[in-house]
Amino acid sequence: MSSDKVVKLLLKNCEREIRQKVEDIKHIIHHGNVPTGKKREKEEAWKIVEAISILLPLTPRYPVPSMQGETRMCQEVADFLNPVNFNGKEIRIAGLYGMSGLGKSTLAKSFCNFSLENFSGKVCFLQFGGCNALDRQKHALQCLTQFPMDQLKSITCEDDAQYNFNTFVKGQRSLLVLDNITEDSIDEVRHYLGAEYGENTCILLIARRVDVLKNLNIDSQSCMHVPRLEKEEAIAILLERMYVKIPELGAEQRGYALKCANRCSFKENKDSAPTFHPLALKALGRHLFSKHGTDLSKWVAEIDGFTNRAADGLDGMFVVLEKAFDDMDPRYRRIVVFLATHMPQNKSSDNVVKWVTTNCNEELCYIKEAVKDLYENAFIEEIEPEFRIHYFIEEFVQIKQYKHDEDFDTNF
Ligand SMILES: Nc1ncnc2c1ncn2[C@@H]1O[C@H](COP(=O)(O)OP(=O)(O)OP(=O)(O)O)[C@@H](O)[C@H]1O
Ligand SMILES: [Mg+2]
Repeated sequence: MSSDKVVKLLLKNCEREIRQKVEDIKHIIHHGNVPTGKKREKEEAWKIVEAISILLPLTPRYPVPSMQGETRMCQEVADFLNPVNFNGKEIRIAGLYGMSGLGKSTLAKSFCNFSLENFSGKVCFLQFGGCNALDRQKHALQCLTQFPMDQLKSITCEDDAQYNFNTFVKGQRSLLVLDNITEDSIDEVRHYLGAEYGENTCILLIARRVDVLKNLNIDSQSCMHVPRLEKEEAIAILLERMYVKIPELGAEQRGYALKCANRCSFKENKDSAPTFHPLALKALGRHLFSKHGTDLSKWVAEIDGFTNRAADGLDGMFVVLEKAFDDMDPRYRRIVVFLATHMPQNKSSDNVVKWVTTNCNEELCYIKEAVKDLYENAFIEEIEPEFRIHYFIEEFVQIKQYKHDEDFDTNF
């Protein structure tokens, strides 16, 4: 069948709205009757982009490692985004909070991917605390505006970037997710909030503590706790390496798995329901799998051998991490401690790898492999585009140091 016939067949069978969009594109491309004048040209070009984005499934912009409860959690966030009147327009704003390692960034990136079609590709995830403000601004320009990409390199100062962002994002319906907001980043966040986005723009603001969000005048009704994992999802994270279908687990196996998963749950406050900690589940699951394979009875035996010290609460999560950490290759431990105590800000991942290589006196290829393994075990937060150690691990290392553990030589 000729391609023309295929197109005709497709058009016959697709929605009227899409058919109309295809006709628009054909008309603009074939007849070349783009009205002159920069503004009109831009508008027409934008129509094409919008039309194409409806026709083509967009590839996820932010890679997320396999995530449990993804659709449920993304839908919860979408439903929660409250309409507010902002700069005379209706936009939707929500705050998302929860302690370190509970899955905020994972959910935020996944939510961006989930919303790509809804926003015709105009979605952007920015993380504070890592790369510098200028890199963030450039990423925002790239994702949310039609700023000419060939001119991006010529922007070298933050004021320039901000001016261009404000100009180009004006009236543009967008989804902006600002992650890892702390007191230090409030001013920068305010700049983003000050832009004149288009009607029905959505902005998701993420911090570990709800009071940071309140400093941005987000009232508590507009703030949600990061959705909690359900029991089945927690078990699935724990057993990820076993590649088993959770509903097919036998009763005994299931009992073992649940006992191990419960070791990674804690109460955030006295009256709250237990919350499963995904980072702890991932670290524990990988640790037990590498040590005992698929024999879950051995997993439970090891869990039972954990000290009962602070079995509940946050310290309980640290005990889990400690087990995974203590059984690690000492060279890996050294890298973790080194990153947790000396990690510089604003270094690109490649630079950090070289920097660790020099300071830990290891081969470059060894460090690259180690970093990948540590990422798999949830000790490193992400590798691309930036390399960083997880904040929860930083805290864990600090606590270990505080206890003057002999193993903790940080004088490199
Ligand atoms: N729903 C989930 N399914 C599977 N794994 C998850 C899920 N949520 C989080 N994780 C894993 O847990 C770890 C911690 O998640 P994440 O980095 O998103 O936490 P966070 O809340 O952003 O922490 P921080 O406040 O320190 O930035 C990651 O390794 C991530 O892959
Ligand atoms: Mg995070």
